[in-house]
Amino acid sequence: MEYIKGGAKMYFGADYYPEHWPVEFWEDHAKLMKEANINVVRIAEFAWAKMEFKEGVFDFLWLDEAIEVLKVKGIKVVLGTPTATPPKWIMDKNPDIYMENEFGQIRGFGSRRHYCYNNPAFKEHTSRIVKGMAEHYKNNPSVILWQIDNEFGCHDTVRCYCDHCLDAFRKWLEKKYTSIDQLNSEWGTIFWSQTYGDWNEVILPKYTTCDSNVSASGEITSKTFTHNPGLLLDFYRFSSDSVVSYQLLQIEVLKDTGCSQPISNNLMGHFDQLNYFDLGKDLDFIVWDNYINTQWGQSDYRSISMAHDLMHGIKEKNFWVMEQQSGPCGWNYLGDTPKPGQIRLWTYQAIAHGAEGMVYFRWRACPFGTEQYWYGILDHDGIPRRRYREIQQIGNEISKLSDLIVGSQKITETAIIKSYDNLWSHEFQPHNAAFNYNKLLSQYYFALASNHINADVVSIETEFSKYKLVFMPAFNLMTGDILKKVEKYVADGGNLVTTFRSGTKNWNNSMTLKTLPGYFKEISGIEVEEFDSLNHGRTVEVKGIIGEGRASLWCDILKPLYAQILATYSEEYYEGEAAITVNSYGKGKVFYVGCDLDADAMNSLIQYIAQTSQVKPLLQIPQEGIEIVRKLKDGKEYMIVLNHTNKIQKVQLERNFTEVLSDKMIHGMCTIEGYGVAVLI
Ligand code: GAL
Repeated sequence: MEYIKGGAKMYFGADYYPEHWPVEFWEDHAKLMKEANINVVRIAEFAWAKMEFKEGVFDFLWLDEAIEVLKVKGIKVVLGTPTATPPKWIMDKNPDIYMENEFGQIRGFGSRRHYCYNNPAFKEHTSRIVKGMAEHYKNNPSVILWQIDNEFGCHDTVRCYCDHCLDAFRKWLEKKYTSIDQLNSEWGTIFWSQTYGDWNEVILPKYTTCDSNVSASGEITSKTFTHNPGLLLDFYRFSSDSVVSYQLLQIEVLKDTGCSQPISNNLMGHFDQLNYFDLGKDLDFIVWDNYINTQWGQSDYRSISMAHDLMHGIKEKNFWVMEQQSGPCGWNYLGDTPKPGQIRLWTYQAIAHGAEGMVYFRWRACPFGTEQYWYGILDHDGIPRRRYREIQQIGNEISKLSDLIVGSQKITETAIIKSYDNLWSHEFQPHNAAFNYNKLLSQYYFALASNHINADVVSIETEFSKYKLVFMPAFNLMTGDILKKVEKYVADGGNLVTTFRSGTKNWNNSMTLKTLPGYFKEISGIEVEEFDSLNHGRTVEVKGIIGEGRASLWCDILKPLYAQILATYSEEYYEGEAAITVNSYGKGKVFYVGCDLDADAMNSLIQYIAQTSQVKPLLQIPQEGIEIVRKLKDGKEYMIVLNHTNKIQKVQLERNFTEVLSDKMIHGMCTIEGYGVAVLI
């Protein structure tokens, strides 16, 4: 990372909580860390009550001592500001800091993140502790990075419905719309007599009549969102902006106090309530927390790769993993224990997608508190075992590979556009009960990954021209400026894929009056004559370049104006009508996919589109569970090959390579053990 001095050294470490352990343990911890090649730890992000037990009375002595013990072993520090856990004395002093939910209930003490981002008193408490830390640590050479707060938004804590938020929301709207008439017109408040006469009349979308279907037994059977869609979308945007502003407050305090270390915040991959592209703008680089297999579920490897690619896409730059799963985890019960080789595999997967700092959560399992079941590198007893040895091995390997990793780039020709505005708009009006914007994006990403095509996940602001192929699935909110960008990209030779529900709305969430697909109509050379939302298990067969597949959510019935038909429906009253089309526009092409597809059909579709767009897969014959990422460092190309299955796999390569980890020549065929990794140059 160019901000961090230390040349090509890759930071490799653990999340450490010295305050959980007797001081006498610290030296042993540091010694074991060093023996595992650990050169950085993240500390202090929940230690507010210990650093400031009383208002304005700081105690950094214990932290200084811990940092000193680590320094002796050459271990640097990422310092967290502790604002995710405001202590009880603060909450008792200013109880209005607690978040309020849409039902008006207070989300009280006992967990963490129990604060409202717009609360004036909390902003003062925040400034005081951050300034205190900054003054104390700004010149400490051990501190190489600041982490602000911890996982903004975790535990559903972006949207707050308190009176401070109401005030702030009204101001946010006034700035955006200037006049109340403009707001009324953009939202269409004439509907159901909701016209506002003044900014002070505007509401937060709290619980109202018609919200949710509640069965006789009181169970919520389906969530109905009743509020005006313009109000809802703006409230979601405002809530995300509130977090961005709160983060900026901390950044400014750090900088104004004279801190010159880089600043970041740990993000959460696919987390949805925050616009990460906005949040990332004020950060020096992205760090994120990667859990694969926990109490709350298990992720497909492609979903993890996609999350890495999104994290990379936020700033289109390499990133760190600040919390990498390194043990069995859960709060109440445990996910599967990582199998031998899996921690290493997950580490190289992260590196392949752009990680150049790797920090494992957590150093040692804590005997008390909510996370006493959350295991990390060491168990409660602190004895180094298999997971420690695996991390030690990774540390050894990485110290040799650092030069290849730090400052490397992914080579990609394809991008998937992710838009949080679109995501939120689909969230409360998903068109079909089973539709999910993120899932649709994942289906495209998974199909690309299964065909060994690397993709970036980036915002609409990205420079399209560097890609041969751009996917904009279900991009329903549109503007004239976005259309211009897309038109230019395609006219200049780019290939665009868009889908059903694209172009159906204006940016502030009212329906377009244009014939669908709205702004996309001319470039895709079609009209949507009619559509059919598929419910109650109904599916429709689609045939064409995809072979035979099935739609199970949505069918746009397309009328080609200038486009060529690639697939048609073979059932229903629209049998024979167009489902998928392609249109030549300038030097490029626009593919319009009018329906969702099952995984096999999706794979065939991606193969066809990639071939037509001259995007070459990294393996000619798809091989299940094998992931290949193409990388570039100092003009030299290399590849990281990952085997996500537990079986040996043989991968046929197009030329001979050297496998860097074993320093062996690979003559065409590369054999990789279960959960194994090869770095090929
Ligand atoms: C993360 C969080 C950590 C820890 C971990 C395990 O989301 O940042 O502080 O709580 O999960 O639950």
